[in-house]
Amino acid sequence: MAALFSPFSIKDITLRNRIAVPPMCQYSAIEGVTTEWHDVHYASLARGGAGLVIVEATAVSPEGRITPACTGLWNDTQAQGMARIAASIKRAGAVPGIQIGHAGWKGSANRPWDGDDHIPNSDARGWQTLSPSAIAFGGKLDKVPTEMTLDDIARVKADFVAAAVRARDAGFEWLELHFAHGYLAQSFFSVHANQRTDQYGGDAQGRGRFLIETLHAVRAVWPERLPLTARFGVIEFDGRDEETLAEAIDLVSRMKQDGLDLLNVSMGFSTIQASVPWSSGFMAPIAARVREGAGIAVATAWGMDEPAEANRAIEASQLDLAMMGRAHLADPHYPFRAARELQVAKSSTLLPEQYAYWLARYPGPQNGEPVE
Ligand SMILES: Cc1cc2nc3c(=O)[nH]c(=O)nc-3n(C[C@H](O)[C@H](O)[C@H](O)COP(=O)(O)O)c2cc1C
Repeated sequence: MAALFSPFSIKDITLRNRIAVPPMCQYSAIEGVTTEWHDVHYASLARGGAGLVIVEATAVSPEGRITPACTGLWNDTQAQGMARIAASIKRAGAVPGIQIGHAGWKGSANRPWDGDDHIPNSDARGWQTLSPSAIAFGGKLDKVPTEMTLDDIARVKADFVAAAVRARDAGFEWLELHFAHGYLAQSFFSVHANQRTDQYGGDAQGRGRFLIETLHAVRAVWPERLPLTARFGVIEFDGRDEETLAEAIDLVSRMKQDGLDLLNVSMGFSTIQASVPWSSGFMAPIAARVREGAGIAVATAWGMDEPAEANRAIEASQLDLAMMGRAHLADPHYPFRAARELQVAKSSTLLPEQYAYWLARYPGPQNGEPVE
């Protein structure tokens, strides 16, 4: 049995294999409410055979959205749409997960295909952004955010808790806190974004405080039997890499003590000065360092879509889960294809019976054999 297709259990949840679909914004919501696009998109991803499907970055408040077309979980109408999606993912045999987050200084933006730039406050679609300090991200995201007061910080933490409760009640069984990619939580940790002089800034402990407190508050409402995870940028590729990684591993160890079950290891993306060494699977060795240093289960994405390579990373205990994003957009049946490539027995059982029956029974056009 290929390691990539071995089951993975954490708390009371078992994934049928080690393939996860990472969160991917669809920019197709209306006032934070999912549309038919999301229903079809998530059901087809789950039908492809992944063990875990994580629904896109979903905002905990209106100003926490990246764009006006992002999903939200700050009201019950939004939660109803999400409940339908969680049920359809589960029905297809995958575990339904969701990422909740706040965009911070990167909010109030146009959709990527509409320019990816800030929508000015003078435009009715835009809003004033929040951040630890009143510094603009830069480049196309040039709006200067408002520095958060202690009341703002308390309110955003409460928004995370309320969204987690809605996610729980909507039937999600895996929660991912969005602490990555230069959005609000990551920017508290970032030396590029956070110049505060109060208890939420300064040294790594101060810069990590918002993340720890948010995790703590969410843990209190998220069921003990279900995995609570986070995506966190442990490196910026800004030349300060070893220092950031050491601080991040230390923070993740504390998160683990506070009830974090798994870390989705990612990048900071909190400065336009970064120089990312893109290559296939380049985050796997970094994830392995976090796994070793913090003693926590890890996942990572970023070019892990070569099945043999992902399988090796699991086999070598670098990763507990491999996340394939764009590979699933190109082919929602990616896990089925990967299983065939790795010669996993009964690969057709990854598919719903409506498809599996035919693929197992009749010769395929390419290899002349039934696929089972
Ligand atoms: C369309 C799209 C939307 C994305 N949205 C999110 C998101 O909502 N949250 C997040 O943490 N990462 C997001 N990402 C990053 C992906 O989760 C993933 O890390 C990235 O695509 C790299 O993995 P891959 O090489 O397997 O595609 C997005 C990526 C894509 C392509």
